[in-house]
Amino acid sequence: MDDKTGQPNVTDGELYLSGIPHDRFTEMRATPGLVWHPYSDGGFWAVTRHGDVKTVSKNADTYSSAIRHTNLWDLEADALDARRSLIDTDAPDHTRLRRLIATSFTPKNIRRWENTVRQIAVTLLDAFIEKGRGDWVAEVAAPLPIQVILTMMGVPLEDADYLVELSNFLVEGTGEQQSLPADAFGNTTELGLLPFNSPASHALFEYGEKIGELRRKDPQDDLVTSLVQAEEQGDRLNGVEYRNLFHLLIFAGNETTRTALSHGAVALADFGDQWQRVLDDPALIEQASEEILRWSTPVLHMRRTTSKPTTLAGTEIGPGQKVVLWYASANRDEDVFTAPTKFDVGRQDNPHVAFGGGGPHTCLGAFLARLEVNVLLEEMVKRNIRLTRMSDPRRTPSNFVHGILEVEMKVEHR
Ligand code: HEM
Repeated sequence: MDDKTGQPNVTDGELYLSGIPHDRFTEMRATPGLVWHPYSDGGFWAVTRHGDVKTVSKNADTYSSAIRHTNLWDLEADALDARRSLIDTDAPDHTRLRRLIATSFTPKNIRRWENTVRQIAVTLLDAFIEKGRGDWVAEVAAPLPIQVILTMMGVPLEDADYLVELSNFLVEGTGEQQSLPADAFGNTTELGLLPFNSPASHALFEYGEKIGELRRKDPQDDLVTSLVQAEEQGDRLNGVEYRNLFHLLIFAGNETTRTALSHGAVALADFGDQWQRVLDDPALIEQASEEILRWSTPVLHMRRTTSKPTTLAGTEIGPGQKVVLWYASANRDEDVFTAPTKFDVGRQDNPHVAFGGGGPHTCLGAFLARLEVNVLLEEMVKRNIRLTRMSDPRRTPSNFVHGILEVEMKVEHR
């Protein structure tokens, strides 16, 4: 609870241990205008309705990603400069950086990776079936996306576990407590200068620099090589930009899809009738994947800061104010989704905002993430498997990612 308002504080990571506070978001959506929400280093306007999330996302001139951070807490200019990557930039820097890597993520280029994704999915799924039960997160949902992004980047797979571990520490950095000492992994950088204030970022930077150096000397057909070779309008991607992009791709390519695959499995186990519909009619797979993305909403929010005075939903917003886009709420907006609290694999009209509300920062990896979810569902259908949940999901205490750390599943195939 927030002391002053008596309302659940939706920025309290611990609250998410028992799931997204949907009741509070429903109240906020029903409140005319925008709700002002307190926060430790300065409150924010909570944008909770679907249409408003889209408006903010598409108007990057007014709602900046470069001013004082895209996470809830403000950063000083030096910290922001040291940490800035694609996600924390505005045009024209954003346009230049995005153009450098966008080609690798177009639907056509992503389809080239379908066999790789399938091989990885099949290996993990068959091993899980062989065991009969286990932690779905550790055995399938976490390794699948990290192995895919590492293969695309050209990073050795034997380092996958290490990078998953680093990624877990980064998520911890969005909460109140970190289990790592500031000098973990040999870090000597002030934590405020590191993404997620985490010494694990230092380790990820070092790792990225090591592999970048290898590719500079010995180019390969992979994403790290194209990053280190990147040249745009005569400008090479500079060292800090490379390091931050490497970090972003590893984190974004891993944590989010893992969350979708974890919540997806839980939903398909808990709503057996919905999984039966997919088994009976595999043509529903793409719709089921979209519903899994809406249902899981792996990224709970992103933040913008106003560059000038503006008005949204009738609320006047001054310049330099924090505006937070709650995708978790917009994806349950009753004005847009029929029966939003129902997990419906046949949902016809599903304009979810799991990948953002449109506009220049729309998730770069959306096609890749969709491919991973689709392929896994296809292989599950082929094997006619059924999942039974054997434990409550152990959730991540974070207001930023809707993570599941562990969930025990039994698998049967017929
Ligand atoms: C289910 C999986 C995923 C979800 C739910 C997700 C969600 C998001 C969201 C909400 C944003 C911010 C959008 C905005 O501010 O408008 C974003 C941005 C981004 N995502 Fe994803 N993502 C997923 C998978 C991936 C993957 C697999 C990658 C790639 C490797 C990736 C790379 C990125 C990048 C680079 C950005 C920043 C784009 C920019 O600022 O221009 N994401 N993602």
